[in-house]
Amino acid sequence: MNKDDFPILKDITYLDNSATTQKPRQVIAAIADFYEASNSNVHRGVNRLAEKATMLYEKAREAAARFINAETAEIIFTKGTTESINFLAARLPIEKGDEIVLSEMEHHSNIVPWQQVAKEKGAVVKYIPVKENFILDMDKARELITEKTKVVSIVHMSNVLGTINPVKDICRMAHAVGAVFIVDAAQSVPHLKTDIKDLDCDYLVFSGHKMCGPTGIGVLYGKKELLEKLEPYQYGGGMIDEVSYERSTWTEVPSKFEAGTPNIAGAAGLLAAIEYLEEIGMDTIQEYEHGLMTYALQKLETIKGLKIIGPQDNRGAVISFTLEGIHPHDVSEILDRENIMVRGGHHCAMPLMKKLGVSGTTRASFYFYNTKEDVDALVSGISKVQEVFA
Ligand SMILES: Cc1ncc(COP(=O)(O)O)c(C=O)c1O
Repeated sequence: MNKDDFPILKDITYLDNSATTQKPRQVIAAIADFYEASNSNVHRGVNRLAEKATMLYEKAREAAARFINAETAEIIFTKGTTESINFLAARLPIEKGDEIVLSEMEHHSNIVPWQQVAKEKGAVVKYIPVKENFILDMDKARELITEKTKVVSIVHMSNVLGTINPVKDICRMAHAVGAVFIVDAAQSVPHLKTDIKDLDCDYLVFSGHKMCGPTGIGVLYGKKELLEKLEPYQYGGGMIDEVSYERSTWTEVPSKFEAGTPNIAGAAGLLAAIEYLEEIGMDTIQEYEHGLMTYALQKLETIKGLKIIGPQDNRGAVISFTLEGIHPHDVSEILDRENIMVRGGHHCAMPLMKKLGVSGTTRASFYFYNTKEDVDALVSGISKVQEVFA
């Protein structure tokens, strides 16, 4: 794993990978190359450039499908996780009295769209509690998921706690009552080998920018037979079969869900990012990050006044902590002066912060290009923070 592939990492210790990841030269070059050699619109023109752009765009779809073991037609490109969830909230059949089950550790992106649709339709949102050991209460999950449940949408890996949730078990519970199961995989697809056939989820959503790809492109995976039943999310060019002044008909999935000019350069970048990750191997990444996380936890636990906010096991390399008497914003600011980038705040999980009884946490989140030296830099950076506040 070559840190030198990432120009921006030259002089900094970047530990804010849950927010977004850095881009290797290969991804940056793929985006530049698209504009230099292939720029055209897709699926329309009968000219060489349009064909080249279309081939590249569809190759990105094939790569995204391969990456999660899906079929190509099951991959819809969106702006990212947030848009994918908004799409599902807007289009899944939800009626008055129906229940939507989420968990207490969801990102705002997997809370707010459901609250809105519940308000509009008269449905009810329920939350699987997080226990004191930062894992989901599966007994409560069993009670909450009932015949009234129409949608269960759960984060695979928490962006705050690092907890890896037993999504396969929750999926079985959802299917047993005929509910649709969605996985928010924004933090898992970049770090864990993902197989949608093994998970058996109905939908799975993630963002390109959290896996070395560019911003503005993400994926909505859906089982083909389910996607075929959904109405389009947006309307316009690219998604129609025939249009008259009176009425219109739609194309097949996936283009039925991709109205307007898509993010073609973004797809080219995502393709390069996927190829980059495949070259290293997701098993290798997973194993390496596990070692790094174990090292980081051991080191951080020795710091007086530092409390880890997250579980011991079954977790990813996202480490939230509090420092006694010091606000997370101050921690981040002082670490930044030391060229160490972490995040301080609520991490788009305000309800979880309230539940945990903290205003925010400091979060160090790792990716495969981070090293033990980065962990050591963080640990000595924290000592400096404590000196300032001593
Ligand atoms: C768990 C989780 N879900 C959803 C999102 C939203 O992703 P995006 O902002 O790329 O749409 C994030 C981003 O941090 C996340 O961590």
